[in-house]
Amino acid sequence: MHLFDEAELSQTGREELCPGAIVLRGFALAGATTLLEALGHIIITAPFRHMVTPGGFRMSVAMTNCGSYGWVTDHTGYRYDATDPESGQPWPKMPGVFLKLAQDAAASAGFEDFTPDACLINRYASGTRLSLHQDKNERDLNAPIVSVSLGVPVIFLWGGLRREVRPSRVPLLHGDVMVWGGPARLRYHGILPVKQEYHPLTGSHRINLTFRKVA
Ligand code: SIN
Ligand code: FE2
Repeated sequence: MHLFDEAELSQTGREELCPGAIVLRGFALAGATTLLEALGHIIITAPFRHMVTPGGFRMSVAMTNCGSYGWVTDHTGYRYDATDPESGQPWPKMPGVFLKLAQDAAASAGFEDFTPDACLINRYASGTRLSLHQDKNERDLNAPIVSVSLGVPVIFLWGGLRREVRPSRVPLLHGDVMVWGGPARLRYHGILPVKQEYHPLTGSHRINLTFRKVA
């Protein structure tokens, strides 16, 4: 298929990857500029940084957070923390536009009453990857994960409930929102190394917002 047709096709529609996991194509397209503006304010007080894993590796993904809790990792382990360790201050408040988009997407995927209290913000540059992992540090595993893709496209790896299951490859484009919960909540997932590409709103970067209910 011609690349243009592919891009056009992927702007709308819903794709169920398995029970509990759905890609809402283009769900965040209309709000993308507003989301990125709000992000611009967040990173003034909580800049992107490369955190270090408990094993001592610097993550290639640059991260920050907003909301009541933020995901952090350092040599002592992974955790959710109400305080940004860089500033000693609470994480920036979750913008209303973030919260509304997350709640609308969750409801559209069949998860009513999603009230995220954490938004992890990932920034991928060319070559950045995220290895297969489960999101399992959240106390309430009944709440779904809502993940918003902005900017440069990536290949999302969608695995199984065990690490050994060979993941399928799901292209995620600017404006796509992925929601997983219920029987899919603990599936392994990751991101293949990002290609050198350009997006008018984010330059060479991909921005990912993941909304979680942590407490
Ligand atoms: C994550 O698993 O936390 C982020 C996934 C993504 O960047 O799409
Ligand atoms: Fe994750």
